[in-house]
Amino acid sequence: MNELGKPRIAVCPGSFDPVTLGHVDIIQRAAAIFDKVIVLVSINPTKEPMFSSEERVDMIRTVTKNLPNVEVETYGGLLADFVKKSGATAIVKGLRAVSDFEYEFQMALANKKLCPEAETIFLVTRSENMYLSSSVVKQIAYFNGDISDFVPAEIKDRIAARITKLNVDVNTNEGVEN
Ligand code: PNS
Repeated sequence: MNELGKPRIAVCPGSFDPVTLGHVDIIQRAAAIFDKVIVLVSINPTKEPMFSSEERVDMIRTVTKNLPNVEVETYGGLLADFVKKSGATAIVKGLRAVSDFEYEFQMALANKKLCPEAETIFLVTRSENMYLSSSVVKQIAYFNGDISDFVPAEIKDRIAARITKLNVDVNTNEGVEN
């Protein structure tokens, strides 16, 4: 709680396409610091998602059900607008490598301009998750590799089944005229 007795709220935004063990680690650590954490499935205009927003929300709800102060939502607009309307005072993001930094730094500065009342806070990823990303997971699953070390056990089969099906569909449609 802050000095006025209000809960300290953080928003943890991302594409989460799909959520990985790296994301879950950041969410758990944020939940230990803040009274309430809203995991926000947002739109990254530079990415074409594989899973719908509803599927992504559902998977994150499944893997965070043991965290009572975590809520999961989706929002199609500006992160800064959501942060304002939710009363959050922090945006929490995970940082893996130096390569993440420039992009994250730019977004943090833009969000500070749009929503001065919130701070962006970076949590440094665990070393074992340094290489982990949703894209790596999708690529391994696409080629029928084992994703058990990369995504929560409860959603592993769901992700694998979906991506393997995609692979089958792509191969089945090869050479078919549209
Ligand atoms: O997991 P990602 O793809 O790195 O997350 C990026 C995301 C979705 C958090 C970012 O693209 C975002 O905030 N999208 C919402 C729209 C917005 O506010 N864009 C301006 C950010 S400065």
